[in-house]
Amino acid sequence: MTTEQTRLTLNNGLEIPALGFGVFQTPPDDTIAAVTTAIADGYRLIDTAASYGNEREVGEAIRRSGVDRAELFVETKLWISDYGADKAQVGFDASLRRLGVDYVDVYLLHQPTPADFDDTIAAYQVAEKMVEAGKARAIGVSNFSPDHLTRLLEKVDVVPAINQVELHPYFTNATVQHAHATLGIVTQAWSPIGGIHRYRPADAPGSGNVLENPTITDLADKYGKSPAQVVLRWHLDQGRSALPKSVNPSRIAENIDVFDFALEPAELAAIDALDTGLRGGPDPEQLNTRTFPFAVDNS
Ligand SMILES: NC(=O)c1ccc[n+]([C@@H]2O[C@H](COP(=O)([O-])OP(=O)(O)OC[C@H]3O[C@@H](n4cnc5c(N)ncnc54)[C@H](OP(=O)(O)O)[C@@H]3O)[C@@H](O)[C@H]2O)c1
Repeated sequence: MTTEQTRLTLNNGLEIPALGFGVFQTPPDDTIAAVTTAIADGYRLIDTAASYGNEREVGEAIRRSGVDRAELFVETKLWISDYGADKAQVGFDASLRRLGVDYVDVYLLHQPTPADFDDTIAAYQVAEKMVEAGKARAIGVSNFSPDHLTRLLEKVDVVPAINQVELHPYFTNATVQHAHATLGIVTQAWSPIGGIHRYRPADAPGSGNVLENPTITDLADKYGKSPAQVVLRWHLDQGRSALPKSVNPSRIAENIDVFDFALEPAELAAIDALDTGLRGGPDPEQLNTRTFPFAVDNS
């Protein structure tokens, strides 16, 4: 497998690998094995979150990997139960403690809380201070709409380096991608191979397995690659970061074996055309601590 991975330069100059490894829904007991396998296969960016409940295991896998910390990119997220200035500081420190690291490479606000946006802003301002303190190399957001970005930018100094959003062939989130291009924000795709449609109920909006779509499977046949590899290549060829998740060693290896081919412009456009305009995940506009009362335990 080639080690020549695509890299992206964030708006503060930090270079990150475009392809990262996700651990949402990876049980803590499986996380060390999954992340260890991923790092051995060449992944250098690991995406976790306080709310995933596996930061400790991600940190342990990193320590066991034998790879220099400076070569790894650790990305985690603050959950909404820790928004507001005081709670955000506690939440951030707890993530560093659980991960067992002195700094994270990328720190994101997991969701906007549009109904309590002052708390979102206060949390982001804590993240800004973490950059000044050398405890986060870059900061950003997740699940923000263009309107949320506008409201944030009116009140903060640091333009988010990344907005991590649902993005796969059935939901291309074009308006958000356009706003990112204007603002200099890297688009990072969650559910990059459409996982959300496989673990959400079959009758959820926009559901269907993107990896079985004929446009994707025909391209997989053409290039001698798997459907997942074609979709990941679509992200990379359009300049996005993507975070496929797997606990299966052969799929972990498959998902990083994508640096030896590229799609034609017409093929990228054909995948873009699969967009349904329907997200599989929750509507960020509706998310707050009342509609989603789960709280991270920072004890
Ligand atoms: N910011 C947010 O709100 C948010 C929300 C969701 C996700 N995320 C991030 O994005 C990451 C990925 O998202 P995701 O887990 O929703 O979806 P995904 O990566 O698109 O898909 C994961 C699903 O696909 C399966 N899979 C993995 N590789 C495959 C392959 N090559 N062929 C066929 N199936 C494959 C996995 O099963 P196996 O594990 O059994 O292989 C899993 O069921 C998360 O882990 C997390 O880091 C962020």
